[in-house]
Amino acid sequence: MAEQKATNITWHEGDITKLDREKFLGQRGVVLWFTGLSASGKSTLAHAVEKRLFENGNLCYVLDGDNIRHGLNKNLGFSPEDREENIRRIGEVAKLFADVGVVVMTAFISPYRSDRQKARDLMPSGEFIEIYVKIPVSVAEQRDPKGLYKKARAGEIKEFTGISAPYEEPENPELIVDTSELSLQESVDKVITYLIKAGVMSEN
Ligand code: ADX
Repeated sequence: MAEQKATNITWHEGDITKLDREKFLGQRGVVLWFTGLSASGKSTLAHAVEKRLFENGNLCYVLDGDNIRHGLNKNLGFSPEDREENIRRIGEVAKLFADVGVVVMTAFISPYRSDRQKARDLMPSGEFIEIYVKIPVSVAEQRDPKGLYKKARAGEIKEFTGISAPYEEPENPELIVDTSELSLQESVDKVITYLIKAGVMSEN
């Protein structure tokens, strides 16, 4: 699906580098890749981390699955092939944001290990931080804020992650946040503590 189709194209390098932009912004451009089941709390956590970072003086942006599927990825569904393309595009977009110098957070189920690995491979080591937002399916199903698990159980939604489509757990994520055990505040603290320890940000 992602083969190189265009020919006669040439890469053009500008004079201003990522490092220049990072110096300008006074921060590092990195990707925080949140992955987990629907209703695990990816978007909620990403937006809460965004708020904390913004208050700390960091420029950041959240790319959210449901939102991006209204625009850039509106032509994609939930087959394995479409999810692969969804994640491929987001990996590329996240890379562009990080190249600007922004702390970009992605909140997509991204259920396939190989797709997440490909997104990771786009980035230099240390600039792709995979955060597994972990909850048991049973808890996600109890939360069911959009009523989707109920519909999936009733067979009204096909290929629903956790019910009738797989979720491949990360084997080596940089961070695991169990939102069935931690409060939102504690979850945010865990992410921020990691970012400071990893030298991605400093608290101002
Ligand atoms: S991904 O698997 O391709 O990464 P993405 O994060 O973009 O998924 O979108 C997931 C969101 O789409 C869910 O939070 C849910 O609101 C909605 N959704 C609709 N149908 C499905 C489905 N079959 N499986 C999972 N999520 C679905």
